[in-house]
Amino acid sequence: MAITGAAERLVSTPFIRLSEVAKTYPSRGETVVHAVERVSVDIAQSEFTSIVGPSGCGKTTLLNMIGGLLPVSSGQIRYEGLKDGRKLPQLGMVFQDAVLLPWRTVLENVMLPIEVAGVDRNEGQHRARELIGLVGLEGFEGRYPHELSGGMQQRASIARALVNDPSLLLMDEPFGALDALTRENMSLELQRIWHSSKKTVLFITHSIAESVFLSDRVLVMTARPSRVREIIDIDLPRPRTLQMTTDESFTRYVAHIRDLLSATAAM
Ligand SMILES: Nc1ncnc2c1ncn2[C@@H]1O[C@H](COP(=O)(O)OP(=O)(O)OP(=O)(O)O)[C@@H](O)[C@H]1O
Ligand SMILES: [Mg+2]
Repeated sequence: MAITGAAERLVSTPFIRLSEVAKTYPSRGETVVHAVERVSVDIAQSEFTSIVGPSGCGKTTLLNMIGGLLPVSSGQIRYEGLKDGRKLPQLGMVFQDAVLLPWRTVLENVMLPIEVAGVDRNEGQHRARELIGLVGLEGFEGRYPHELSGGMQQRASIARALVNDPSLLLMDEPFGALDALTRENMSLELQRIWHSSKKTVLFITHSIAESVFLSDRVLVMTARPSRVREIIDIDLPRPRTLQMTTDESFTRYVAHIRDLLSATAAM
């Protein structure tokens, strides 16, 4: 098992480089909330990285800073290899809660990034329908968000995040609202999508097994203010199968991450 203890770790072709990134939120009263403290990590192109850590430790904050939705308080986030002086790569985001526009149907919601990007409508619609099928929502294209369950809404938001074929996919607990079986199927699908498209994925989850199943690397965060406690290389063959989740090599990773998290919680 290849485990690197250092928070700072260099990868051969960094795509995203976080240097000493920190975030403090203003808070009522005098004190500020230190959500993220000095996180330095390199993410390689096409790498699948999961982020796990206790609730409230700053995972969403970190992802939102990487996605450019939230300014860093200090430190730097750099994207390497972008042309035209672009600050951010083409990215797709799946938020912790599905944020669909209530007045738009499933198809219209999934089409939104295509309309914003000005892509050809027919081509875009073909891709949107394909993705709606992929996330198991075929037949629901014309439904409105309030007519869907929470899990179905989340699946629509996953299709929306993929529709522009982003090079970077940021996913914040995307499967949290799904039942166990759908969750497993979505994990398999996400692995397939990742494998065929070679996107760089950052994936927050509270499921340790899910992080091991999907990832090249798992970032274990400490409790707030969050730092990288350990980066674990998941050295398991791909494609991963559900059968593998009971293998000793798999369960050893799960046990190790669980130990790290419970040690963090006890601190
Ligand atoms: N806009 C904000 N203003 C003030 N404090 C905030 C804000 N957003 C988050 N926080 C605080 O920052 C800390 C980190 O929050 P964050 O949502 O990043 O955690 P998280 O790891 O994603 O938690 P969870 O696993 O429950 O989703 C928390 O203590 C939270 O209360
Ligand atoms: Mg969160």
